Amino acid sequence: MKLFSRVLAAVAALAGAAALVAPVRAQDYPTRSITMIVPFAAGGPTDVVARIVTAHMAQTVGQSIIIENVVGAGGTTATTRAARAANDGYTLITGHMGTHAAAVPLYPKLAYHPEKDFEPVALLAGTPILILARKDFPPQDLKEFIAYVKANTAKLNAAHAGIGSVSHVSCELLNSVLDIKPTGVPFNGTGPAMNALVGGQVDYMCDQIVNAVPQINGGTIKAYAVATPERNPSLPDLPTTAEAGLPAFQAQGWNAIFAPKGASPAVVAKLNAAASRALDDENVRKRLLDLGSAIPNPQERSPEALAALVHSEIAKWTPVLKQASN
Ligand code: MLT
Repeated sequence: MKLFSRVLAAVAALAGAAALVAPVRAQDYPTRSITMIVPFAAGGPTDVVARIVTAHMAQTVGQSIIIENVVGAGGTTATTRAARAANDGYTLITGHMGTHAAAVPLYPKLAYHPEKDFEPVALLAGTPILILARKDFPPQDLKEFIAYVKANTAKLNAAHAGIGSVSHVSCELLNSVLDIKPTGVPFNGTGPAMNALVGGQVDYMCDQIVNAVPQINGGTIKAYAVATPERNPSLPDLPTTAEAGLPAFQAQGWNAIFAPKGASPAVVAKLNAAASRALDDENVRKRLLDLGSAIPNPQERSPEALAALVHSEIAKWTPVLKQASN
């Protein structure tokens, strides 16, 4: 009996010590570099937003934040890996409306659930969707685009970043509204897809504004409309879809940081504060706004607000995508 009580006492002492260490560990976090998984190829909108914000966050938390581009399956390969990562705060992911909402109805056997397998950390940016085409695409405006793609749908190809990506689901909505079925051409991200559009190898694409502003201003692609109720300050001459005669096509992406389920509230709070501080930095704000991003206001930045956004976006895109697939 003596041995058992000695073992119990030792276990209690160890548990007590561990309990003391845990908060200290969270207080000291981070004590080494952090990996930020980006589920698409370098140079695309998710990568660009992640790099702009995490570069500032790293200064605040005092450790480097290393971007790791993990591609495939519309971002779900990376997101599955992030869901299974250690929840110690050293592996994070920059997910978005595709990986953490639209993928749910599109992948019946999805290996994660955005609401069950992640801790929401911070919303980074809203990214309005544009209708883009190669610069020698014949239509001169959205009305002509609609007539042209309806008349030529069998020979058209539309680029996207994989099933469930923002570029894929937003053009699924567009194609459903126009009742057309072009050939989808998948890429590992809309960085490479944009290269193909600039090169004229694909006809059109629905992409996040942050990936298109430089090309539009450089005249290397065509932009027909922005799918938000208001024009975007970074492209003041680009009409909204409503102005151009297609009010039914409204679409906006967003990017946000998630940690694996079980990451400590203290770690989440520290990362959330660093992200918010980045979004208040004038240089970070200028870079995001110049690329057409919508920067969340303080009320939209809490982990709870992000959880509510994920929930509402899953509810929004599920019927839209089921309708589009009919
Ligand atoms: C997408 O979902 O289309 C991605 O945002 C593309 C990307 O970031 O490369």
